[in-house]
Amino acid sequence: MAEVVLLEERGEAKRAVVKYSALERLLHLVHLVSFVVLALTGLALTYRSAGWAVYLFGSYAAVKAIHHLFAWIFVISAGLFFLKLLPHARFAPYDAEWISKLGGYLDRSHRVRAPAGRVNAGQKLFFWFVLLGIIVLAVTGFVIMYTPAQPGQALHLALHDLAAGLVIAAVLVHLYLTTIANPGTFWIMITGQADEDYIREHNPQWYEELKEKGLL
Ligand code: HEM
Repeated sequence: MAEVVLLEERGEAKRAVVKYSALERLLHLVHLVSFVVLALTGLALTYRSAGWAVYLFGSYAAVKAIHHLFAWIFVISAGLFFLKLLPHARFAPYDAEWISKLGGYLDRSHRVRAPAGRVNAGQKLFFWFVLLGIIVLAVTGFVIMYTPAQPGQALHLALHDLAAGLVIAAVLVHLYLTTIANPGTFWIMITGQADEDYIREHNPQWYEELKEKGLL
């Protein structure tokens, strides 16, 4: 059951729904920070142009050790976060319409309305794409880390690099969509709350569900 809170905004009372708990926000922050550390150290290890990374972390061995340590922090925190969001990542029939309209993002007049539940179809696609990427990164990464003498390491490394490139690209799109493209969204991950005006505009199907339940 969604938790509803009252917000005071410019002297006006507004209802808001708790979309992300404190634990979920903490997990998102931890895997976000570890993702950035992994991307930077990973790029330094891949291109051997570790000059700046060596300067930052002390030595090439330290860059490698940090990559290995943060791999565990990332896999555990992202794994728990994705597990918590799993119940909301199932596709609904109206998601096909969101995809066919590309969420209305290409409509410059901003008049196209795309249906969306608690999270929209694009966010669900992001969830499944990144989850698959994390699984490939974790399996290939831990094989390279713990069984370096095993044959076939070149293939594991190639898959690891490919998955890393795709997940980094997906996260850059996610970063753009949750900040510049959709003002107000960033604060949902800071406060955990989405207010009723935001939900009515961005998540109309969820808004109807919450109304039917008498929560909004
Ligand atoms: C780079 C900085 C990042 C920012 C600014 C950011 C911001 C956000 C925000 C504001 C939300 C809430 C969106 C909503 O409920 O409408 C969110 C959700 C989420 N984030 Fe991030 N995030 C970042 C990095 C990451 C990374 C590295 C991952 C995973 C590898 C990730 C995975 C997710 C997932 C799965 C969700 C829930 C579904 C979704 O909203 O797409 N985020 N993020």
